[in-house]
Amino acid sequence: MATSVQEHSVSLVFVKEDQKGGFQFCNSLESQQPLKLEVKAEEEGAELRVIDGNGVCVFKCSVNRETESCRVGKQAFLITVGFSSVLLQFKSLNEFFTFYNSLKIFKGSNKARSAFSQRTEDASAAQYFQFYGCLSQQQNMMQDYIRTATYQRAILQNHVDFNDKVVLDVGCGSGILSFFAVQAGARKVYAVEASSMSKYAEDTFDVVILMARSVKYTVNFLEAKEDDLHRMEIPFVFRILQSGLVHGLAFWFDVAFVGSQKTVWLSTSPAEPLTHWYQVRCLLQTPLFAKEGETFSGKVLLVANKRQSYDIHIMAMVDQTGFKSGNLLDLKNPFFSFYE
Ligand SMILES: C[S@@+](CC[C@H](N)C(=O)[O-])C[C@H]1O[C@@H](n2cnc3c(N)ncnc32)[C@H](O)[C@@H]1O
Repeated sequence: MATSVQEHSVSLVFVKEDQKGGFQFCNSLESQQPLKLEVKAEEEGAELRVIDGNGVCVFKCSVNRETESCRVGKQAFLITVGFSSVLLQFKSLNEFFTFYNSLKIFKGSNKARSAFSQRTEDASAAQYFQFYGCLSQQQNMMQDYIRTATYQRAILQNHVDFNDKVVLDVGCGSGILSFFAVQAGARKVYAVEASSMSKYAEDTFDVVILMARSVKYTVNFLEAKEDDLHRMEIPFVFRILQSGLVHGLAFWFDVAFVGSQKTVWLSTSPAEPLTHWYQVRCLLQTPLFAKEGETFSGKVLLVANKRQSYDIHIMAMVDQTGFKSGNLLDLKNPFFSFYE
């Protein structure tokens, strides 16, 4: 963008609103002298500076699309900043139009405004995205069983329309529909969300990132003693299904409610519809590279602590290369729980 400065001769009038709603027009002392208006293009409009005969800047502001401003009469221009307004009076019609037209160009020369911002008031958009940025609002929608289950049915019963497709979920909110698209076999899902919910949506993770089949550790609550839950050692051997960096381990649980009539399962697996438990991710201190077919083994030690939680010790190694990594984490740390 050109950074040349345009200069005009102007006089400056401050416009003040009195308490009765009337207006006072005051020419300050400096503005009775000849004044020079400098107009400099900025990324988002123009910077205006009014300089007096001594080279002192007596007024300065930026004018962009959001600035309240308009032509007044034949050759004056009014700018309102907060509760104050100033009137720039140009010496000639010609000077006024040179200024007026360049200002239009400076305002229009920025990045094109999106269709959304052209059609939406800023205050409305702010309120709208604040609303959808609340987890409770997304939860409210997700818990509407009729709504969410119908979306899921519509997607899963038409899985052929999703299988191996690239899906764009615009306004994904929590990411629940993206999740259904993955369940229906989508190859890739781009989930777009404008509110701050996007930082959570990222964390509803996609089973595609898992590099191996899961390893099971079972606790039989009909037989386990309390002490068995104080320290649990979970050995694992993962056979790597796709080469890449192993960043950590993902944990979730399934519960079987074994009744006399029926066994009912509750699953929090990433391959099942999302629950409020999400899944837990534990990152390794250092990611480890592993190739398809190699084995990634080690153990996870869960040790009950006095903070009503578990300390998690992870020790892991790529067996074929001997590369090792691990971590020590606190299960209670909410950041670590679902949006590390
Ligand atoms: C009614 S909610 C639906 C959320 C989710 N798709 C679901 O079914 O649970 C609409 C979501 O779209 C987002 N949204 C609206 N306009 C958007 C835009 N222009 N760009 C990105 N996200 C937008 C909102 O922030 C909100 O989270």
